[in-house]
Amino acid sequence: MQGLAGFLLKVYMHPLFQCRQWVLSAIACGVLIVLGAFLLSDAQAQISRSKPKPVAPQDAYLQPIAGLSYSQLRLFREGEKEFKVPWVVFPLLGGHWGLGPTFIADACSTCHINGGRGITIDDTIIVQQLLRLSVPGKGPQGGPNPHPNYGDQIQVFGVNVGLKENLKPGEAEVYVDWQALQVELADGEMVPMRKPIIRIENPNFGPIDETVMTSLRNTQVVFGMGFLEAVPEAILMRVAEDQKKQGLNGRLNRVYDDTLKKTVVGRFGWKANQPSIRQQIAVAFIGDIGVNSSLYPDENCPKVQTICRAMAPGNQPELLDYNLEQMTFWHAALAPPPARNAEAEEVILGERLFEQAKCSGCHLPELTTGDYPLLPQIEHQTFRAYTDLLLHDMGEDLADGRADFLAGPRDWRTPPLWGIGLSAQVNGSTNFLHDGRARNIQEAILWHGGEAKASRDLFADMSKDERNALIAFVNSL
Ligand code: HEC
Ligand code: HEC
Repeated sequence: MQGLAGFLLKVYMHPLFQCRQWVLSAIACGVLIVLGAFLLSDAQAQISRSKPKPVAPQDAYLQPIAGLSYSQLRLFREGEKEFKVPWVVFPLLGGHWGLGPTFIADACSTCHINGGRGITIDDTIIVQQLLRLSVPGKGPQGGPNPHPNYGDQIQVFGVNVGLKENLKPGEAEVYVDWQALQVELADGEMVPMRKPIIRIENPNFGPIDETVMTSLRNTQVVFGMGFLEAVPEAILMRVAEDQKKQGLNGRLNRVYDDTLKKTVVGRFGWKANQPSIRQQIAVAFIGDIGVNSSLYPDENCPKVQTICRAMAPGNQPELLDYNLEQMTFWHAALAPPPARNAEAEEVILGERLFEQAKCSGCHLPELTTGDYPLLPQIEHQTFRAYTDLLLHDMGEDLADGRADFLAGPRDWRTPPLWGIGLSAQVNGSTNFLHDGRARNIQEAILWHGGEAKASRDLFADMSKDERNALIAFVNSL
């Protein structure tokens, strides 16, 4: 053995042996291949070990889209943290400084629990809903004209600096009383329904009388927003054109963009009155939590609210720009939950009935994204949100009587239906429609009027089995 090794070494070292470096390279290659195979098998083992855990039921609306890079995922996690972080008054501990002076909730996720809808609760001040208000005339940028003493939204709470019990009365208390009614379907079934009556108590800055227009809004879901933001205007215009042939009248809202300083397409909110995810977030901060930002640097204190105006802000601005960018990315990258049960017989029948009842005229199954530099992964894709992002006249029963840019007093944006069947498991809410009056899908459909009246009547004329199938389809999305 030793003799053989000695012989090979001699050959290798002999001056006539020209291919010495080849042999070295071959050995090095061999080592690399073995090492590579070892690492790969380990990586594979790791991949199979870290297979995505099944999503917990309450987290169905909080998942990132597939294929985020490591740095995008980090941005996503930071954004999620900011959505959940509580805001407190300087110098209290336990959150970011900047709550109030007046506010409705101390965190985004106080209303959007697990990223889901609001829940209506009887006999308490509204907290997961909000009341918009305005007076006749137009605001500075063509939007609603804010009330001189209350602004464009009632903040039901206020803060006292430094006190542990930092809640004090806000601008006014808002309650909702529910008026019960019944609707009869073609087969004789009676459906109990309810409609909100708004009650404002203890207004602290003068009466809020009938000349003031109000609009009750339930908290919306926040996933899938990147897709909705990425649909080119031209596509939406084409959808609106096509709808005219079907006797529908979908229209784009056009609203003021406070960053671009011009009027652009409105996409977000129940009346599509916000142009972008970023602005929607900044508006929520100033309106709902009392947190100012570089976009809205002034505290939300109308002239008569002298105590509010005298309070020092928690920071300048309270919302840091990079936190706003993290949150914008998080909203954009929040995935819509995948559809379920598509193969079930009832769901297949339901889809056919959804077409037949012309629900799909407005709840358009497919839209396509265009360029979207914020999240290139979702550019030029077709997605199934079941919305047209357009405003429709939904009739007198759903009217709030309060115009918002081009959205008239009876107009609402078609809400996406994706993920709607998971609403209850996410946070217990099955409160649908702009004010949360519907307690299930059937009630939501039966409130449809105006342009959607024919659809509603086709539903009300169906047999119980057909209605159930249609509802099963909606719940599968
Ligand atoms: C007081 C409860 C409440 C709080 C707090 C709140 N929201 Fe909302 N959110 C709502 C309501 C109500 C709407 C619908 C507003 C409308 O139509 O006018 C909404 C709408 C939205 C939308 C638009 C969804 C869509 O489909 O168009 C986004 C995004 C959003 N909120 C994000 C946030 C963020 C981010 C925060 C924290 C800065 C926040 N919200 C805080 C109640 C709340
Ligand atoms: C003319 C357009 C139009 C048609 C047709 C239409 N919808 Fe809607 N739908 C809307 C609008 C707009 C809203 C929001 C109304 C509101 O909040 O007051 C809505 C709300 C809903 C909601 C509640 C969603 C939520 O998140 O609160 C459901 C469920 C729904 N529609 C299902 C249907 C079904 C099923 C049909 C067919 C029977 C149908 N819609 C037909 C426009 C339409």
